[in-house]
Amino acid sequence: MVSAPSYEIRPEQPVDRDDVLRVIAAAFEDRGELVADIWAGLGRHRRVGLVVEQGGHVLGHVGLSRAWVDARQALVEVWVLSPVSVEPERQRQGIGTALVAAAIETARGSAVPVLFLEGSPSYYGARGFDRADRHGFVPAALERTPRAAFQCVVFESREDWMTGQLIYPDVWWEHDASGLRDPALAELEERFASLD
Ligand SMILES: CC(C)(COP(=O)(O)OP(=O)(O)OC[C@H]1O[C@@H](n2cnc3c(N)ncnc32)[C@H](O)[C@@H]1OP(=O)(O)O)[C@@H](O)C(=O)NCCC(=O)NCCS
Repeated sequence: MVSAPSYEIRPEQPVDRDDVLRVIAAAFEDRGELVADIWAGLGRHRRVGLVVEQGGHVLGHVGLSRAWVDARQALVEVWVLSPVSVEPERQRQGIGTALVAAAIETARGSAVPVLFLEGSPSYYGARGFDRADRHGFVPAALERTPRAAFQCVVFESREDWMTGQLIYPDVWWEHDASGLRDPALAELEERFASLD
């Protein structure tokens, strides 16, 4: 449990479901319904959420869900951080930063060897994430994931042989949400070109 003077970050409970879907939909705007559908579709046995609550009101959420690294020796269970959502009127107050930190600590405590995400290198790079290709990992959508966006936090339990391609559960593919497609893909590749 992580707390700050004005709000609390706590594990998501089944009773939070509607609040969480509302916060995701509001944060992601035109993509809100899609992202909320993916979160709901992951199913409770494959995911863990944290919510930010203030005075009984849920104003932020971060999701962690199960995926795998397809190593030569075995499938390795890992976690993916997605989505992170803060109510639009409460953004830029440090809440997203606190959620990402709490998610990293939750993953570390769960004993998974790696936590992955696809996202902004400037935002997540300043909050504990590192380029995953530098650790030998390959993104799930090989041709459609800008390398700078494919990031991870490696924990102590990671062993040298645990390397390979990230494999997402079906729900990511059913929603075509692994990597990006043009024109967004080309735009981000151009924006991140100087980072390669
Ligand atoms: C991204 C998000 C979770 C950040 O939460 P937040 O509480 O506003 O973030 P913080 O206050 O901790 O940090 C603010 C910083 O994040 C930056 N930031 C916000 N959204 C960003 C984004 N999509 N990409 C890169 N940087 C972003 C802001 O520019 C600001 O930078 P600064 O500190 O240099 O001014 C929130 O803006 C949000 O819910 N966005 C919509 C959903 C989304 O895009 N989620 C992330 C993809 S999974």
